[in-house]
Amino acid sequence: MLRADLSEEEGIATVEARLSDRKNPVDLLVNNAGFGNKGRYLEVSMADELMMLKVHCEAVLRLTSAAAASMRERRRGGVVNVASVAAFVPRGTYGASKAWVVQFTQGAARDLAGSGVRLMALCPGFVRTEFHQRAGMGTDNVPGWMWLDADKLVEAALKDLARGKALSIPDPRYKALTGLMKLAPRRAVSRASATTGRRYGPN
Ligand SMILES: NC(=O)c1ccc[n+]([C@@H]2O[C@H](COP(=O)([O-])OP(=O)(O)OC[C@H]3O[C@@H](n4cnc5c(N)ncnc54)[C@H](OP(=O)(O)O)[C@@H]3O)[C@@H](O)[C@H]2O)c1
Repeated sequence: MLRADLSEEEGIATVEARLSDRKNPVDLLVNNAGFGNKGRYLEVSMADELMMLKVHCEAVLRLTSAAAASMRERRRGGVVNVASVAAFVPRGTYGASKAWVVQFTQGAARDLAGSGVRLMALCPGFVRTEFHQRAGMGTDNVPGWMWLDADKLVEAALKDLARGKALSIPDPRYKALTGLMKLAPRRAVSRASATTGRRYGPN
C-alpha cells in the first residue's frame, strides 16, 4: 500500500512516480481524495482554501496526467475523477474546485478520444461517508431521498466508464436535478443553492 498526503508536494510526487512506473502499470485510477472546508467563503483561511485546490485540482491534474501518459502508450486504461453535483451550482469554493474537475476531465477526455484511454468525471450527490462530519456539516435536514447508496453509485459509475462517458451523474434523481439547474437562469440557481446550501452545505 502507498500512503500519500496529496496536499503536500512530496505526496503528489510519490503517487506520480508510481503511476509513471511502466513496469507495474496501473489500468484504473480513481482520484477520490477530497474534503470540504468548515465555514463559508471568507470564513475559511486562505491556507485551507489553497490546500483544497492542491488536493482537488493540482493533484487531480498531475495524477491524471501521469496515469494517462502511461495508459496512452499501452492504448488502454481509465481514470475516474470524483467531482460532485456541487460542480453545477455557482456557490462556494468547494463547488468551484469540483467544476474545475469536471471541465478539465471532459476536455482531456476529448483530447484523448480514440487513444484507448478513458477519462470520466463522476458527480455524486449525497453519500453517507465521513465527508460531512469532517466538514463540520449537519445532515439531519437532508431529506432521505437525496441520499445515494455507495455500492450502487460505484456500479453505475463503472458502467458509465465502460460505455465511454466523460461525465457521469449516476442517479436519475440527480440527473433530473442537474438537468433543471442547466435550464434555469444562473441567478435563480445561485439563489436557490444559497438557501439550501445554508442547510446542506457542500457535497
Ligand atoms: N459524501 C458525499 O456526499 C460526496 C458527494 C459528492 C462528492 N463527494 C466527493 O467524494 C470524494 C470522497 O469523499 P467521501 O465522501 O468518501 O469522504 P470521506 O469519507 O471524508 O473520505 C475522503 C477521502 O479523501 C482522502 N483525503 C482527504 N484529504 C486527503 C489528502 N490530503 N491526501 C490524501 N487523501 C486525502 C481521505 O483519506 P484519509 O481518510 O486518510 O484522511 C479519505 O479517504 C471526495 O472527493 C468528495 O469531495 C462526496
